[in-house]
Amino acid sequence: MRKTLQKLEQSTLEALQKATTLKELQSVYTDYFGKKGLLKEILSNLKNLSPDEKQTIGKAANELKNQLEGQFKNRQNELNQENISKSLKQEWLDLTAPGKTYEIGHIHPLSQTQEEVERIFQQMGFSIIDGPEIESEYYNFEGLNIPAHHPARDMQDTFFLDKKAHHEEGRLVLRTHTSPNQIRAMRKYGVPLRIIVPGRVFRNEATDASHEHTFDQVEGLLIDRDISLAHLKGVMTDFLSRLFKKEMKIRFRPGYFPFVEPGLELDMSCVFCNEKGCRVCKKTGWIEFMGCGMTHPHVIRSGGADPTQYQGWAFGFGLTRLVMMRYGIDDIRHLTSGDVRFLEQF
Ligand code: PHE
Repeated sequence: MRKTLQKLEQSTLEALQKATTLKELQSVYTDYFGKKGLLKEILSNLKNLSPDEKQTIGKAANELKNQLEGQFKNRQNELNQENISKSLKQEWLDLTAPGKTYEIGHIHPLSQTQEEVERIFQQMGFSIIDGPEIESEYYNFEGLNIPAHHPARDMQDTFFLDKKAHHEEGRLVLRTHTSPNQIRAMRKYGVPLRIIVPGRVFRNEATDASHEHTFDQVEGLLIDRDISLAHLKGVMTDFLSRLFKKEMKIRFRPGYFPFVEPGLELDMSCVFCNEKGCRVCKKTGWIEFMGCGMTHPHVIRSGGADPTQYQGWAFGFGLTRLVMMRYGIDDIRHLTSGDVRFLEQF
């Protein structure tokens, strides 16, 4: 019987050492210490011994039981400690390590300037409106006093779509300018009105550093009673001065657009040299900025208003060109290249 106890001691200790996880240790417990475990079995065999043996062996067996249970506890503690240090190692965090930097994107230079332009005109009471990029020939041309036979159509090389527009409005075209929205806005909102329309326009251009098939314009239209070019002069001087954050001057030259009469080109004083003459203004002190003029009665009629009661002016400038000039960008293609080395500079 003593031998059996010794063997049990040895095998229990071995089993305890072998267990490397708490789960394994638990099954050692069931096998040796549990209700049906070896230890219980031996203890229950004691009743078959003589009273003398019962006393000595029983004592030894109980001592062994206590000792082994102590060993079990020790091993359990050991494994618990190991678990804790393992998870500490996994969760360890170096609070002094430098952080990761994430690239933060920003607004495209074209959109930045568009937002500024919108804000300034909004402060002067203009609404910002939107229009379709696929237009009908009517809105893009006829309604604006550019009939089919008119040579002015050649000023804007056009992408036509292989489809007719609704309501006898001719073919569908990619709008060549934002001017169709002069008519759209008058029809939708009535007169008087003050709007600007920023947007993409398309022309069948051979691409080079200063020409692209797709670029951005901003259209302006003000219709009311007793409107003159003096209002346009005031609005544009104020707009440009606010945009460039300095006193700007403007001048008008005659220009031709079928939807304005008189038609004008507006130049602004050169922001770079204060009219002394530089590379940007080609030594003239002035920079060509936009086409404009008093809205042609034909257009006011197209918009559903009475030209004997209402008059106004319209303008259209190239937002893309404005951005290029403002930031000294020498190639229009940079703006749509998606090259982050270029974009990161703004
Ligand atoms: N739509 C003209 C262009 O694209 C610009 C313009 C707009 C001229 C309004 C006069 C009045 O060239």
